Amino acid sequence: MVRNIRVKLKYKLDNSYDIVIGENLDKVIFNDLKRFAHSKYVIVTDDVTRKLLGNKLLAALKKNKISSDLVSFTAGEKNKNIATVTKICRELLRKGTDRKSCVIALGGGVVGDIAGFVASVFMRGVEFVQIPTTLLAMVDSSIGGKVGVDLDSGKNILGMFAQPKKVYVDINFLKTLPTSELENGLAEIIKHGIIADKRLFEYIEKNLDKIFMRKKDALMRIIVDSVKIKKTIVEKDEKESLLRMKLNFGHTTGHAIEALSNYKIKHGKGVALGMLIESRIANKLGMLNSFELLRINLLVRRAGLDIHDDVFKAVNKKNLNKLVLLMHHDKKAFKGDIRFILPLAIGKVTIKSSLKDNLIKESVLDVLPAW
Ligand SMILES: NC(=O)c1ccc[n+]([C@@H]2O[C@H](COP(=O)([O-])OP(=O)(O)OC[C@H]3O[C@@H](n4cnc5c(N)ncnc54)[C@H](O)[C@@H]3O)[C@@H](O)[C@H]2O)c1
Ligand SMILES: [Zn+2]
Repeated sequence: MVRNIRVKLKYKLDNSYDIVIGENLDKVIFNDLKRFAHSKYVIVTDDVTRKLLGNKLLAALKKNKISSDLVSFTAGEKNKNIATVTKICRELLRKGTDRKSCVIALGGGVVGDIAGFVASVFMRGVEFVQIPTTLLAMVDSSIGGKVGVDLDSGKNILGMFAQPKKVYVDINFLKTLPTSELENGLAEIIKHGIIADKRLFEYIEKNLDKIFMRKKDALMRIIVDSVKIKKTIVEKDEKESLLRMKLNFGHTTGHAIEALSNYKIKHGKGVALGMLIESRIANKLGMLNSFELLRINLLVRRAGLDIHDDVFKAVNKKNLNKLVLLMHHDKKAFKGDIRFILPLAIGKVTIKSSLKDNLIKESVLDVLPAW
């Protein structure tokens, strides 16, 4: 005899949330946290951000009579792993965190990805807010709900989609950010321009000096425009079925470059070089005209990509096979088919697959730097 008992779990979810962008957001944050009325707020941050911002935020929360605590881990991608998650969860337990508590992810993308993951698994999930403190985290990683950690064998292999309750982007935090980190974020913003917003790209071309001087109006403009692009794509395709893949322009090659360099090349720089290579592939295939290619090349280089930097020496024609092999590990790849997001023009991209569109190896070989 066979009995079939159905568990009906169909429900409508509203995962909407606000992203507040501005400066001196302390009051907004404190008012919100009081209103959210969680039993406790635990700041999860790295040691660098703790010293710069975390201890101050904790003191301010306490002064505002908001029950709070702080847990930190050593900064860096190499600590974005499950061991760090376990350590943080133990600390949370020791500090009396319960299911009604809320995690505050304060830091760059590494913190956001780990803290969001911790919030999603701790006691089967507690809520979390994002307070991104690097440019990259402000325009990219804090939005869209991808959280997770790395395995030795690959980046972001353990993870899930978990949307934050709210995101607070305070541009004042960028004052202490090293220029190299500003450049990492800028690479993703240029990417947003190339995939969806010609005007944003042009604005950066004209105002790069102001951006590097960290002028508030320039920072606000590029952050707001970037966030709008990412949120529009995420709204249409929360779980990355197709459209969201556009956000991966520069990443198929970029991730492989990061891995090839043993992560000495940071994400933003990998993406920057990836964008150059993928734009050159598009040009070779007759999809992108040479003038637009030149503009992309110039802007990416002006925004901090120094291809003569020693770490980029690992990326050359001799390493092509390794590079292509690494591309097969890309999460977008499927059954030996590598997906590329290729620009048709500044502001417009298309998705191509290596098998169907027959465009791998030779195209990549053609455009790889020959240093
Ligand atoms: N979830 C997503 O959708 C998504 C998207 C893009 C990238 N990511 C992930 O983001 C990570 C990279 O993030 P990142 O570039 O922000 O790096 P990061 O988090 O390592 O931060 C870079 C460095 O800057 C320091 N820092 C942070 N804020 C600072 C400030 N205000 N002033 C001075 N120093 C500061 C950090 O302590 C760290 O040492 C990668 O792990 C990547 O996989 C995730
Ligand atoms: Zn990226």
